[in-house]
Amino acid sequence: MLDEAGLAYEIYSNIKPNPTIENVQTGVAAFKASEADYIIAIGGGSSMDTSKAIGVIITNPEFEDVRSLEGVAPTKNPSVPIIAVPTTAGTAAEVTINYVITDVEKKRKFVCVDTHDIPVVAVVDPEMMSSMPKGLTAATGMDALTHAIEGYTTKGAWEMTDMFNLKAIEVIARSLRDAVENKPEGREGMALGQYLTGMGFSNCGLGIVHSMAHGLGALYDTPHGVANAIILPTVMEYNALYRDQV
Ligand SMILES: NC(=O)c1ccc[n+]([C@@H]2O[C@H](COP(=O)([O-])OP(=O)(O)OC[C@H]3O[C@@H](n4cnc5c(N)ncnc54)[C@H](O)[C@@H]3O)[C@@H](O)[C@H]2O)c1
Ligand SMILES: [Fe+2]
Repeated sequence: MLDEAGLAYEIYSNIKPNPTIENVQTGVAAFKASEADYIIAIGGGSSMDTSKAIGVIITNPEFEDVRSLEGVAPTKNPSVPIIAVPTTAGTAAEVTINYVITDVEKKRKFVCVDTHDIPVVAVVDPEMMSSMPKGLTAATGMDALTHAIEGYTTKGAWEMTDMFNLKAIEVIARSLRDAVENKPEGREGMALGQYLTGMGFSNCGLGIVHSMAHGLGALYDTPHGVANAIILPTVMEYNALYRDQV
């Protein structure tokens, strides 16, 4: 499509799942060398998150060490424009203000929260997700379900985020099994459900499933959705037992 439209492009794909500081830094160098004007982020959360970090560092070069972006980074300028095209139905990175980078040296994943990183356009097309094998569909779908449940149960939840997260739980609950079977209605439901909770949890935060999943991802390179799926039932039981005491 880009060729047909006469738009020049270069592909940068040195991005591993649970993307690293090095993936970001070589991406920044590739962006500079290409003299590009914008980024089209095609892929799962790892590709979109790496694009966000690259885009933010290009316009805020004082953060080129990447580590200093952790938490709420005091960046001054919006990222270079990012057009996000998710190919998994899980992270909703195309619509959130977060990105997650792995510090291989320190064996930890860190979350960056920055309104300057939001893509200017999100192309959420279930067909882009239909090439996912069953295991990846299930894992990324459980990430989305975890976002919705944690976004609903976190103390930061409020009426607007409940609106997104409750609807997302409903849509994901009826769609995930069909998505794993690669049925079009299942793929469509998951594309929508993960996006809905993205607009929810991006405005209220998540919970302890995610904080522990990031540890697993950093230490064992566990795929993010798998880590969430392992931890979610135990945390839900714990929260139900102690909800009156915290
Ligand atoms: N930004 C956010 O708000 C946010 C939220 C949750 C998770 N995350 C982060 O996102 C990352 C996980 O992203 P993910 O779960 O989307 O997986 P991913 O991006 O790591 O991709 C996993 C694997 O699936 C492959 N893949 C992607 N799309 C495919 C398709 N359509 N068909 C076949 N293979 C495909 C990738 O090449 C990769 O090998 C983690 O680092 C996690 O911490 C970010
Ligand atoms: Fe997640």
